[in-house]
Amino acid sequence: MEFVNLGELEARAREHLEDFAYDYYSSGANDEITLGENREAFDRRRLWYRVLVDVAERSLTTRVLGKEISMPVLVAPTAFHRLACEAGELATARAAAAAGTVMVLSTLSNTSVEDVVAAAREVDRQAAVWFQLYVYRDREATAGLVERAVAAGCSALVLTVDAPLLGRRERDVQNRFALPPGLEVKNLLPVGLGAVETEDPDSGLAGYFASQLDPSLSWKDLEWLRSLTEVPILVKGVVRPDDALRARDHGAAGVVVSNHGGRQLDTAPATIDALEPIAEALAREPGSPSFEVLLDGGVRRGTDVIKALALGARAVLLGRPILWGLALDGQSGAGQVLELMRREVDLAMALCGCREPREVGRDLLGPG
Ligand code: GLV
Repeated sequence: MEFVNLGELEARAREHLEDFAYDYYSSGANDEITLGENREAFDRRRLWYRVLVDVAERSLTTRVLGKEISMPVLVAPTAFHRLACEAGELATARAAAAAGTVMVLSTLSNTSVEDVVAAAREVDRQAAVWFQLYVYRDREATAGLVERAVAAGCSALVLTVDAPLLGRRERDVQNRFALPPGLEVKNLLPVGLGAVETEDPDSGLAGYFASQLDPSLSWKDLEWLRSLTEVPILVKGVVRPDDALRARDHGAAGVVVSNHGGRQLDTAPATIDALEPIAEALAREPGSPSFEVLLDGGVRRGTDVIKALALGARAVLLGRPILWGLALDGQSGAGQVLELMRREVDLAMALCGCREPREVGRDLLGPG
Protein backbone atom coordinates (compact mmCIF):
# COMPACT_ATOMS: atom_id res chain seq x y z
CA MET A 1 0.00 0.00 0.00
CA GLU A 2 1.24 3.45 -0.85
CA PHE A 3 -0.84 5.08 1.89
CA VAL A 4 -1.91 4.12 5.38
CA ASN A 5 -5.38 5.67 5.37
CA LEU A 6 -7.68 7.60 3.05
CA GLY A 7 -6.87 10.94 4.68
CA GLU A 8 -3.21 10.56 3.79
CA LEU A 9 -4.21 9.43 0.30
CA GLU A 10 -6.15 12.63 -0.36
CA ALA A 11 -3.19 14.80 0.61
CA ARG A 12 -0.89 12.78 -1.64
CA ALA A 13 -3.34 12.68 -4.55
CA ARG A 14 -3.74 16.43 -4.51
CA GLU A 15 -0.13 16.81 -5.65
CA HIS A 16 -0.97 14.77 -8.76
CA LEU A 17 -3.97 16.86 -9.77
CA GLU A 18 -4.34 20.24 -11.36
CA ASP A 19 -5.84 22.69 -8.88
CA PHE A 20 -9.12 23.10 -10.76
CA ALA A 21 -9.59 19.31 -10.88
CA TYR A 22 -8.80 18.86 -7.20
CA ASP A 23 -11.21 21.68 -6.39
CA TYR A 24 -13.94 20.15 -8.55
CA TYR A 25 -13.64 16.71 -6.97
CA SER A 26 -13.22 17.84 -3.39
CA SER A 27 -15.62 20.73 -3.07
CA GLY A 28 -19.08 20.83 -1.57
CA ALA A 29 -21.82 23.39 -2.04
CA ASN A 30 -21.67 26.87 -0.47
CA ASP A 31 -20.15 26.74 3.03
CA GLU A 32 -19.52 23.00 2.77
CA ILE A 33 -21.46 22.38 5.97
CA THR A 34 -22.96 19.13 4.70
CA LEU A 35 -19.64 18.05 3.23
CA GLY A 36 -18.07 18.24 6.70
CA GLU A 37 -21.14 16.96 8.49
CA ASN A 38 -21.17 13.72 6.48
CA ARG A 39 -17.86 12.89 8.14
CA GLU A 40 -18.53 14.37 11.55
CA ALA A 41 -21.78 12.45 11.94
CA PHE A 42 -19.92 9.18 11.42
CA ASP A 43 -17.30 10.24 13.91
CA ARG A 44 -19.90 11.11 16.56
CA ARG A 45 -21.36 7.60 16.61
CA ARG A 46 -19.86 4.98 18.90
CA LEU A 47 -19.61 1.25 18.30
CA TRP A 48 -20.75 -0.90 21.24
CA TYR A 49 -18.83 -4.02 20.27
CA ARG A 50 -19.69 -7.57 21.32
CA VAL A 51 -17.05 -9.75 22.97
CA LEU A 52 -16.19 -13.43 23.13
CA VAL A 53 -17.67 -14.20 19.76
CA ASP A 54 -15.70 -16.65 17.67
CA VAL A 55 -14.68 -14.53 14.70
CA ALA A 56 -11.98 -16.83 13.37
CA GLU A 57 -13.95 -17.42 10.18
CA ARG A 58 -15.29 -14.31 8.50
CA SER A 59 -16.72 -13.31 5.16
CA LEU A 60 -17.53 -9.85 3.82
CA THR A 61 -19.55 -11.20 0.93
CA THR A 62 -22.99 -9.73 0.49
CA ARG A 63 -25.65 -9.20 -2.19
CA VAL A 64 -26.92 -6.02 -3.79
CA LEU A 65 -29.89 -6.22 -6.17
CA GLY A 66 -29.32 -9.95 -6.32
CA LYS A 67 -25.66 -9.65 -7.30
CA GLU A 68 -23.07 -11.18 -5.00
CA ILE A 69 -20.22 -8.80 -4.23
CA SER A 70 -17.07 -9.42 -2.24
CA MET A 71 -17.70 -6.70 0.37
CA PRO A 72 -20.43 -4.19 1.22
CA VAL A 73 -18.61 -1.37 -0.57
CA LEU A 74 -19.39 -0.25 -4.13
CA VAL A 75 -17.83 2.42 -6.30
CA ALA A 76 -20.06 5.51 -6.29
CA PRO A 77 -20.81 7.41 -9.47
CA THR A 78 -18.48 10.38 -9.85
CA ALA A 79 -17.93 12.47 -12.95
CA PHE A 80 -14.96 12.96 -15.29
CA HIS A 81 -12.37 10.37 -14.25
CA ARG A 82 -9.98 11.42 -16.99
CA LEU A 83 -9.28 14.54 -14.96
CA ALA A 84 -7.59 12.14 -12.54
CA CYS A 85 -5.71 9.80 -14.87
CA GLU A 86 -5.38 9.07 -18.56
CA ALA A 87 -7.29 5.77 -18.50
CA GLY A 88 -10.10 7.42 -16.55
CA GLU A 89 -13.22 5.29 -16.09
CA LEU A 90 -11.53 2.28 -17.73
CA ALA A 91 -9.11 2.18 -14.80
CA THR A 92 -11.96 2.48 -12.31
CA ALA A 93 -13.94 -0.29 -14.01
CA ARG A 94 -10.98 -2.64 -13.95
CA ALA A 95 -10.21 -1.89 -10.30
CA ALA A 96 -13.82 -2.45 -9.22
CA ALA A 97 -14.10 -5.67 -11.20
CA ALA A 98 -10.82 -6.95 -9.76
CA ALA A 99 -12.07 -6.16 -6.27
CA GLY A 100 -15.27 -8.10 -6.92
CA THR A 101 -17.59 -5.17 -6.53
CA VAL A 102 -19.93 -2.99 -8.57
CA MET A 103 -18.89 0.21 -10.32
CA VAL A 104 -21.65 2.76 -10.77
CA LEU A 105 -20.75 4.68 -13.90
CA SER A 106 -21.74 8.35 -14.06
CA THR A 107 -23.69 9.73 -17.00
CA LEU A 108 -20.96 12.40 -16.93
CA SER A 109 -18.09 10.08 -17.78
CA ASN A 110 -15.22 10.81 -20.12
CA THR A 111 -15.48 7.27 -21.48
CA SER A 112 -18.41 5.61 -23.20
CA VAL A 113 -20.56 3.16 -21.28
CA GLU A 114 -19.82 0.44 -23.84
CA ASP A 115 -16.06 0.75 -23.32
CA VAL A 116 -16.42 0.84 -19.53
CA VAL A 117 -18.51 -2.33 -19.35
CA ALA A 118 -16.13 -4.06 -21.76
CA ALA A 119 -13.13 -3.11 -19.57
CA ALA A 120 -14.82 -4.49 -16.45
CA ARG A 121 -15.78 -7.71 -18.25
CA GLU A 122 -12.22 -8.24 -19.47
CA VAL A 123 -11.20 -8.50 -15.82
CA ASP A 124 -14.21 -10.54 -14.70
CA ARG A 125 -16.83 -11.88 -17.09
CA GLN A 126 -19.43 -11.60 -14.34
CA ALA A 127 -18.50 -8.02 -13.38
CA ALA A 128 -21.47 -5.75 -12.72
CA VAL A 129 -21.58 -2.13 -13.85
CA TRP A 130 -24.59 0.02 -12.97
CA PHE A 131 -25.42 3.23 -14.77
CA GLN A 132 -26.12 6.51 -12.95
CA LEU A 133 -28.64 8.49 -14.91
CA TYR A 134 -29.25 12.20 -15.27
CA VAL A 135 -32.47 12.97 -17.09
CA TYR A 136 -31.97 15.46 -19.91
CA ARG A 137 -34.56 17.92 -21.18
CA ASP A 138 -34.22 15.97 -24.39
CA ARG A 139 -36.17 12.88 -23.36
CA GLU A 140 -35.35 11.07 -26.56
CA ALA A 141 -31.67 11.47 -25.87
CA THR A 142 -32.28 10.23 -22.32
CA ALA A 143 -34.20 7.19 -23.52
CA GLY A 144 -31.40 6.51 -26.01
CA LEU A 145 -28.86 6.69 -23.22
CA VAL A 146 -30.81 4.21 -21.11
CA GLU A 147 -31.11 1.88 -24.08
CA ARG A 148 -27.38 2.05 -24.72
CA ALA A 149 -26.48 1.48 -21.08
CA VAL A 150 -28.71 -1.57 -20.83
CA ALA A 151 -27.55 -2.92 -24.21
CA ALA A 152 -23.95 -2.48 -23.07
CA GLY A 153 -24.70 -4.72 -20.09
CA CYS A 154 -25.44 -2.35 -17.19
CA SER A 155 -27.61 -4.32 -14.79
CA ALA A 156 -29.21 -1.44 -12.85
CA LEU A 157 -29.98 2.25 -13.23
CA VAL A 158 -29.22 4.71 -10.46
CA LEU A 159 -31.41 7.73 -10.96
CA THR A 160 -30.01 10.87 -9.35
CA VAL A 161 -32.86 12.96 -7.97
CA ASP A 162 -31.12 15.63 -5.90
CA ALA A 163 -29.91 17.77 -8.77
CA PRO A 164 -32.68 19.62 -10.64
CA LEU A 165 -29.99 22.28 -10.84
CA LEU A 166 -26.34 22.00 -9.90
CA GLY A 167 -25.40 23.07 -6.38
CA ARG A 168 -23.16 26.12 -6.21
CA ARG A 169 -19.63 24.96 -5.58
CA GLU A 170 -17.84 28.20 -5.05
CA ARG A 171 -14.40 26.93 -5.93
CA ASP A 172 -15.75 25.86 -9.33
CA VAL A 173 -17.20 29.33 -9.75
CA GLN A 174 -13.84 30.89 -8.97
CA ASN A 175 -12.10 28.49 -11.37
CA ARG A 176 -14.87 28.81 -13.98
CA PHE A 177 -14.82 25.04 -14.16
CA ALA A 178 -14.98 23.51 -17.64
CA LEU A 179 -13.64 20.38 -19.26
CA PRO A 180 -10.22 20.91 -20.84
CA PRO A 181 -9.86 20.38 -24.61
CA GLY A 182 -10.05 16.71 -25.52
CA LEU A 183 -12.39 15.73 -22.69
CA GLU A 184 -16.12 15.44 -23.14
CA VAL A 185 -19.26 13.95 -21.68
CA LYS A 186 -18.52 10.99 -23.90
CA ASN A 187 -21.92 9.27 -23.63
CA LEU A 188 -23.70 12.39 -24.90
CA LEU A 189 -21.30 13.16 -27.73
CA PRO A 190 -23.41 11.37 -30.36
CA VAL A 191 -26.40 13.61 -29.58
CA GLY A 192 -24.37 16.81 -29.55
CA LEU A 193 -24.39 17.30 -25.76
CA GLY A 194 -20.79 16.37 -25.07
CA ALA A 195 -19.21 19.76 -24.38
CA VAL A 196 -18.90 21.36 -20.93
CA GLU A 197 -17.63 24.85 -21.68
CA THR A 198 -17.12 28.07 -19.76
CA GLU A 199 -19.94 30.00 -21.39
CA ASP A 200 -21.63 30.29 -18.02
CA PRO A 201 -20.37 33.23 -15.93
CA ASP A 202 -20.13 30.79 -13.02
CA SER A 203 -19.12 27.21 -13.57
CA GLY A 204 -19.38 25.57 -16.97
CA LEU A 205 -20.94 22.50 -15.38
CA ALA A 206 -23.61 24.60 -13.66
CA GLY A 207 -24.40 26.09 -17.06
CA TYR A 208 -24.53 22.62 -18.62
CA PHE A 209 -26.98 21.43 -15.96
CA ALA A 210 -29.19 24.50 -16.26
CA SER A 211 -29.42 24.26 -20.03
CA GLN A 212 -29.50 20.48 -20.56
CA LEU A 213 -30.86 18.63 -17.53
CA ASP A 214 -34.57 18.51 -16.85
CA PRO A 215 -35.58 20.41 -13.71
CA SER A 216 -39.19 19.29 -14.15
CA LEU A 217 -38.28 15.69 -13.22
CA SER A 218 -40.89 14.31 -10.82
CA TRP A 219 -42.22 11.05 -9.38
CA LYS A 220 -44.24 10.27 -12.49
CA ASP A 221 -41.00 10.15 -14.46
CA LEU A 222 -39.91 7.19 -12.40
CA GLU A 223 -42.77 5.31 -14.03
CA TRP A 224 -41.69 6.63 -17.43
CA LEU A 225 -38.21 5.32 -16.75
CA ARG A 226 -39.56 1.96 -15.65
CA SER A 227 -41.46 1.75 -18.92
CA LEU A 228 -38.14 2.03 -20.78
CA THR A 229 -36.34 -0.85 -19.14
CA GLU A 230 -36.67 -3.99 -17.06
CA VAL A 231 -33.48 -3.42 -15.10
CA PRO A 232 -33.95 -2.39 -11.45
CA ILE A 233 -33.86 1.30 -10.65
CA LEU A 234 -32.36 2.81 -7.52
CA VAL A 235 -33.34 6.34 -6.57
CA LYS A 236 -30.25 8.22 -5.40
CA GLY A 237 -30.24 11.37 -3.33
CA VAL A 238 -32.95 10.63 -0.79
CA VAL A 239 -32.71 11.93 2.80
CA ARG A 240 -36.35 11.70 3.99
CA PRO A 241 -38.44 8.69 5.01
CA ASP A 242 -41.49 9.89 3.05
CA ASP A 243 -39.41 10.12 -0.13
CA ALA A 244 -37.98 6.63 0.45
CA LEU A 245 -41.51 5.28 0.81
CA ARG A 246 -42.59 7.12 -2.32
CA ALA A 247 -39.67 5.63 -4.24
CA ARG A 248 -40.75 2.19 -3.12
CA ASP A 249 -44.38 2.87 -4.03
CA HIS A 250 -43.31 4.01 -7.51
CA GLY A 251 -41.56 0.71 -8.13
CA ALA A 252 -37.95 1.56 -7.37
CA ALA A 253 -35.81 -1.39 -6.31
CA GLY A 254 -34.25 0.71 -3.58
CA VAL A 255 -32.80 4.06 -2.60
CA VAL A 256 -29.36 5.46 -2.11
CA VAL A 257 -29.42 7.67 0.95
CA SER A 258 -27.21 10.45 -0.32
CA ASN A 259 -26.78 14.20 -0.36
CA HIS A 260 -24.51 14.05 -3.40
CA GLY A 261 -21.38 14.20 -1.29
CA GLY A 262 -22.46 17.55 0.16
CA ARG A 263 -22.37 19.08 -3.33
CA GLN A 264 -26.02 19.99 -3.76
CA LEU A 265 -28.15 21.51 -0.99
CA ASP A 266 -25.82 22.80 1.71
CA THR A 267 -26.98 22.12 5.29
CA ALA A 268 -28.83 18.98 4.19
CA PRO A 269 -28.45 16.32 6.88
CA ALA A 270 -25.52 13.94 7.04
CA THR A 271 -26.34 10.70 5.30
CA ILE A 272 -25.72 8.49 8.35
CA ASP A 273 -28.22 10.63 10.28
CA ALA A 274 -30.75 10.46 7.43
CA LEU A 275 -30.42 6.70 7.16
CA GLU A 276 -31.84 5.84 10.56
CA PRO A 277 -35.38 7.26 10.17
CA ILE A 278 -35.52 5.97 6.60
CA ALA A 279 -34.67 2.41 7.64
CA GLU A 280 -37.15 2.63 10.53
CA ALA A 281 -39.98 3.87 8.29
CA LEU A 282 -39.35 1.11 5.76
CA ALA A 283 -39.28 -1.52 8.50
CA ARG A 284 -42.59 -0.22 9.93
CA GLU A 285 -44.39 -0.28 6.59
CA PRO A 286 -45.30 -3.69 5.22
CA GLY A 287 -44.52 -4.58 1.63
CA SER A 288 -41.46 -4.98 -0.61
CA PRO A 289 -39.13 -6.77 1.79
CA SER A 290 -36.59 -6.82 -1.04
CA PHE A 291 -36.40 -3.01 -1.20
CA GLU A 292 -32.74 -2.12 -0.64
CA VAL A 293 -31.17 0.84 1.07
CA LEU A 294 -27.65 1.94 0.26
CA LEU A 295 -25.74 4.97 1.50
CA ASP A 296 -22.96 7.23 0.31
CA GLY A 297 -21.30 10.38 1.62
CA GLY A 298 -18.34 10.69 3.95
CA VAL A 299 -17.43 7.02 4.12
CA ARG A 300 -13.70 6.94 4.84
CA ARG A 301 -13.26 4.18 7.40
CA GLY A 302 -14.23 0.57 7.84
CA THR A 303 -16.03 1.61 11.02
CA ASP A 304 -18.19 3.98 8.92
CA VAL A 305 -19.30 1.00 6.85
CA ILE A 306 -20.20 -0.94 10.00
CA LYS A 307 -22.25 2.02 11.27
CA ALA A 308 -24.17 2.25 7.99
CA LEU A 309 -24.88 -1.48 8.01
CA ALA A 310 -25.95 -1.30 11.66
CA LEU A 311 -28.54 1.33 10.76
CA GLY A 312 -29.99 -0.73 7.95
CA ALA A 313 -27.90 -0.11 4.81
CA ARG A 314 -27.20 -3.09 2.62
CA ALA A 315 -23.91 -1.57 1.48
CA VAL A 316 -22.19 1.79 1.02
CA LEU A 317 -20.71 3.56 -1.98
CA LEU A 318 -17.29 5.16 -2.00
CA GLY A 319 -16.85 8.28 -4.12
CA ARG A 320 -13.98 10.73 -3.77
CA PRO A 321 -11.39 8.26 -2.39
CA ILE A 322 -11.58 6.34 -5.67
CA LEU A 323 -10.70 9.56 -7.49
CA TRP A 324 -7.75 10.11 -5.18
CA GLY A 325 -6.60 6.57 -5.87
CA LEU A 326 -6.87 7.17 -9.63
CA ALA A 327 -4.90 10.39 -9.33
CA LEU A 328 -2.15 8.73 -7.33
CA ASP A 329 -1.73 5.62 -9.40
CA GLY A 330 -4.52 4.92 -11.88
CA GLN A 331 -6.11 1.47 -11.70
CA SER A 332 -3.61 0.33 -9.09
CA GLY A 333 -4.41 3.33 -6.88
CA ALA A 334 -8.16 2.79 -7.10
CA GLY A 335 -7.58 -0.91 -6.41
CA GLN A 336 -5.52 -0.08 -3.33
CA VAL A 337 -8.34 2.11 -2.03
CA LEU A 338 -10.78 -0.78 -2.32
CA GLU A 339 -8.36 -3.23 -0.69
CA LEU A 340 -7.69 -0.81 2.18
CA MET A 341 -11.44 -0.48 2.72
CA ARG A 342 -11.82 -4.24 2.62
CA ARG A 343 -9.17 -4.65 5.33
CA GLU A 344 -10.68 -1.91 7.46
CA VAL A 345 -14.21 -3.31 7.19
CA ASP A 346 -12.98 -6.81 7.97
CA LEU A 347 -11.08 -5.62 11.05
CA ALA A 348 -13.92 -3.43 12.31
CA MET A 349 -16.41 -6.26 11.81
CA ALA A 350 -14.22 -8.73 13.70
CA LEU A 351 -13.63 -6.27 16.55
CA CYS A 352 -17.41 -5.75 16.74
CA GLY A 353 -17.87 -9.49 17.21
CA CYS A 354 -19.44 -10.13 13.81
CA ARG A 355 -18.51 -12.76 11.25
CA GLU A 356 -20.46 -11.45 8.32
CA PRO A 357 -22.37 -8.31 7.30
CA ARG A 358 -25.69 -9.95 8.22
CA GLU A 359 -24.61 -10.08 11.85
CA VAL A 360 -24.06 -6.33 12.05
CA GLY A 361 -27.10 -5.07 13.93
CA ARG A 362 -28.55 -1.93 15.45
CA ASP A 363 -27.32 -3.00 18.92
CA LEU A 364 -23.76 -2.13 17.86
CA LEU A 365 -24.69 1.54 18.03
CA GLY A 366 -25.67 1.27 21.67
CA PRO A 367 -28.85 1.76 23.58
CA GLY A 368 -31.40 4.16 22.07
C1 GLV B 1 -21.79 15.81 -10.79
O1 GLV B 1 -22.66 15.02 -10.62
C2 GLV B 1 -21.24 16.61 -9.75
O2 GLV B 1 -21.67 16.47 -8.60
O3 GLV B 1 -20.33 17.40 -10.04
